[in-house]
Amino acid sequence: MGVKLLLLLLLHLVSIIVINGELAAHKMNNVSRCDVFQGSWVLDRSYPLYNASLCPFVGKEFDCLKNKRPDQQYLHYRWQPHGHACSLSRFDGPNFLEKLRGKSIMFVGDSLSKNHWLSLLCMIHSSLPSTPYLVKISGANGITAYTFTDYEVKVIYHHSLYLVDIIKEKIGRVMKLDSITSGKHWLDIDYLVFNTWHWWTRRGPTQPFDFIQDGEKIYKDMDRLVAFGKALDTWGRWVDDNIDPHKSKVFFQGISPTHYNGTNWGEPKAQACMGQKVPVPGSTYPGTSPASLAVLKKELKTVKKPVTLLDITNLSLLRKDGHPSKYGLGKKMSGRDCSHWCLAGVPDTWNILLYNLMFSKDQL
Ligand SMILES: *[C@@H]1O[C@H](CO)[C@@H](O)[C@H](O)[C@H]1NC(C)=O
Ligand SMILES: *[C@@H]1O[C@H](CO)[C@@H](O)[C@H](O)[C@H]1NC(C)=O
Ligand SMILES: *[C@@H]1O[C@H](CO)[C@@H](O)[C@H](O)[C@H]1NC(C)=O
Ligand SMILES: *[C@@H]1O[C@H](CO)[C@@H](O)[C@H](O)[C@H]1NC(C)=O
Repeated sequence: MGVKLLLLLLLHLVSIIVINGELAAHKMNNVSRCDVFQGSWVLDRSYPLYNASLCPFVGKEFDCLKNKRPDQQYLHYRWQPHGHACSLSRFDGPNFLEKLRGKSIMFVGDSLSKNHWLSLLCMIHSSLPSTPYLVKISGANGITAYTFTDYEVKVIYHHSLYLVDIIKEKIGRVMKLDSITSGKHWLDIDYLVFNTWHWWTRRGPTQPFDFIQDGEKIYKDMDRLVAFGKALDTWGRWVDDNIDPHKSKVFFQGISPTHYNGTNWGEPKAQACMGQKVPVPGSTYPGTSPASLAVLKKELKTVKKPVTLLDITNLSLLRKDGHPSKYGLGKKMSGRDCSHWCLAGVPDTWNILLYNLMFSKDQL
């Protein structure tokens, strides 16, 4: 047993030396040297990063405290990546706006993108509460843009459920897996953060299309994971055809996980995420990660232009306590929103990671 221990210790030492070697060689790029997406949640009383009730942007559906969520510990967790080379910079609003001066960032996707975008707006606002801003809403295009005028920085949300088009035709609403006309709104944006998945599994009266078109063929329905992969392929080709990597950086938000089945985290009797007050301890989620993540990773590999995956799935999987549950939009969500996230909350961490990656040296 003694020998085994010694061996383990030696192995550990060797790996530390290797990590330190990398760190020394890449002092400027510590974020890219470590996997910032592997780690654990630690209690940190300096969190949350803002008081949601002082944030004019926070959506009613995400403001869990205002919706009378009684427990508050979920607000005080900070994401701690593993490893020595892994220290994340704290979000610095003035620095963020200064670095983005004259530029734009756009979140494109479903309401999880909205969650992400509003979190960023609150983070900026809390560090610069009196900096002036303008809002421009183009309802027809589903675009809302805030401009922080002192910095000429635009922080934009483009609501797009599937990224690909849905077109009204004689036969009904047709989802076109190989067409992205709304891409015209993404040209000239400096930082693009895409996301789509949650609506792909939706069927029944709230499914916003009647047919799926793949090339010349029109289907009543098809395997949704397959359809998702085809749409991502189309999106990847759009990126390759339209993105100038010297001007624009492209991120994919990753798959935001849900917590509807307690069996996945070893609590089969749990009523979805209701009453969950603490994260899963440690760094490994006992359940499986979503199949859509594997599809996404496979498709991202085929994109030739640089795209950074903001791989937030695993770290968010640990946060069974982070959802609004019945403290979201109440009736509309039938009282069980285990899909979106409370603000302040988990998306703030997505933004800290984004912030660290946006300005990391070898991203461009
Ligand atoms: C996420 O979790 C899966 C399954 O536990 C694991 O295979 C994968 O390496 C993890 N990814 C990251 C980025 O931690
Ligand atoms: C957040 O702001 C509200 C309104 O000013 C205040 O009542 C509340 O105490 C603040 N919460 C914290 C934790 O500071
Ligand atoms: C890189 O590491 C240094 C020292 O640990 C730290 O001060 C700095 O904030 C880190 N930079 C980033 C971008 O994380
Ligand atoms: C939860 O997941 C387990 C294991 O995958 C499955 O057997 C069970 O039917 C699921 N429960 C619900 C309510 O979907």
